[in-house]
Amino acid sequence: TLLHEELAGDEVLVVSNREPYLHMRTRNGIEVQRPASGLVTAVEPVMRACSGTWIAHGSGSADRDTVDRFDRVPVPPANPAYTLRRVWLTKEEEQGYYYGFANEGMWPLCHIAHVRPVFRSSDWDQYVAVNQRFADAVVKEARTDDPVVLVQDYHFALLPRMVRNVLPKATIITFWHIPWPNPESFGICPWREEILEGLLGSTILGFHTPFHCKNFIETVDRYLETRIEHEASTISYGGKLTQVEHYPISIAWPENDNADKPSVAECRASVREEHGMPADHLLGIGVDRLDYTKGIIERFQAVERMLELHPNLIGRFTLIQIAAPSRSSLDEYQNFDARVRMLVQRINNRYSSGNYQPIILKAEHHDADSVIRYYRAADVCLVTSLHDGMNLVAKEFIAAREDERGVLVLSQFTGAARELHEALIVNPYHIEQSADAVYRAVTMPDVEQRERMRSMRSLVKDFNIYRWAGRMLLDAARLRQRERIMTKIR
Ligand code: G6P
Repeated sequence: TLLHEELAGDEVLVVSNREPYLHMRTRNGIEVQRPASGLVTAVEPVMRACSGTWIAHGSGSADRDTVDRFDRVPVPPANPAYTLRRVWLTKEEEQGYYYGFANEGMWPLCHIAHVRPVFRSSDWDQYVAVNQRFADAVVKEARTDDPVVLVQDYHFALLPRMVRNVLPKATIITFWHIPWPNPESFGICPWREEILEGLLGSTILGFHTPFHCKNFIETVDRYLETRIEHEASTISYGGKLTQVEHYPISIAWPENDNADKPSVAECRASVREEHGMPADHLLGIGVDRLDYTKGIIERFQAVERMLELHPNLIGRFTLIQIAAPSRSSLDEYQNFDARVRMLVQRINNRYSSGNYQPIILKAEHHDADSVIRYYRAADVCLVTSLHDGMNLVAKEFIAAREDERGVLVLSQFTGAARELHEALIVNPYHIEQSADAVYRAVTMPDVEQRERMRSMRSLVKDFNIYRWAGRMLLDAARLRQRERIMTKIR
């Protein structure tokens, strides 16, 4: 395959916080689950294609007495293609590094969703320590002195430099899955210089959009002494060159266009039947982690407003919202969960009758097949994030619709909106506008749906996840080649 050509036998190591598979101990023994994470959705097929080792935090996995068994496991379970190597964190490490610095600090810092970031020195200490633990794991796993290390996301801003210090010849490709804010916003982080220095240990630093790259380069320009080549998009710092580039992430296109899945017609019928809806009931779908960046409240308000403006849709339109619980020990997430539930109740009290409810909230984990079934059953998919790096739900919905029907309502503040121009693009803060878009979606003629869907499908099929990884690896190979030549000349 293309990826194999680009890798030409190089050793690949992935580092991420979230693991691609959870081995959960249940009453029936060990069950394997796929977590709800855009990062995992995207990177997992890449790892299947190029094998190697994926180092991740053993989060939802088996209890301590089975640690040995799940330290290093071949995955996917049914058809092993690569190794999952787990790093086990203590409660304190997990609290400070993951919940604290990563998810109360960096996450709200980078997503402008008006949730105030929290920075505690004790969290930072754990963040530094855990980055070092993962860097050590990378060095230990590496069989060569020049592996290709794919570092994922805001959990590991310091790791690129830590690895670089020990393996100077490594090719370190870091991908930042979330937005990068402007220098003023980023500047409130008490450890901004350390974070920037850490990231500049990378050979390549990738973001989803040119806008995030620009914000990053401006942030570096503001807070560090570096040499920036704006045209080439490179930053020299401490004698090392980092290429800053945009690589819009994507999904693996379904094999044989979902030939192995129940047909769209079957999904439409069975989902409606299951919920006691007539065959022609209009259905909206939302699929998110229960996270305050996703615009779930604004989405529900838009549905409410639409019913207010178009009372003929009361009893005829329902939004099914799948919301996977996420980071639920944090206060912000608990508050958000409570607000979401209260709003659903209020709207349902206002408009329900008989067994009709305008909003059905399913706040639990759903596996990939069951999510696809809802995508296929829906007339409209609502992605209304207040801010989002890419948002792969938008692309998954498109990939699920080989019938070329269904409308995507998409927030302008997602990376996806820069590519999917045929979606109905909305400002999620503008409830009236979103309400109009949902109405337009459920009343859109078939021909127009097909035209829009067809065009988006050909784009996502073409710019799939292998293309994302391939482009990064190709750029890395070029840089490595250049470095080899330069060393010879010197
Ligand atoms: C976002 C982040 C990922 C993360 C995912 C799920 O997509 O960019 O790094 O894995 O959210 O969040 P969680 O904290 O459950 O891993």
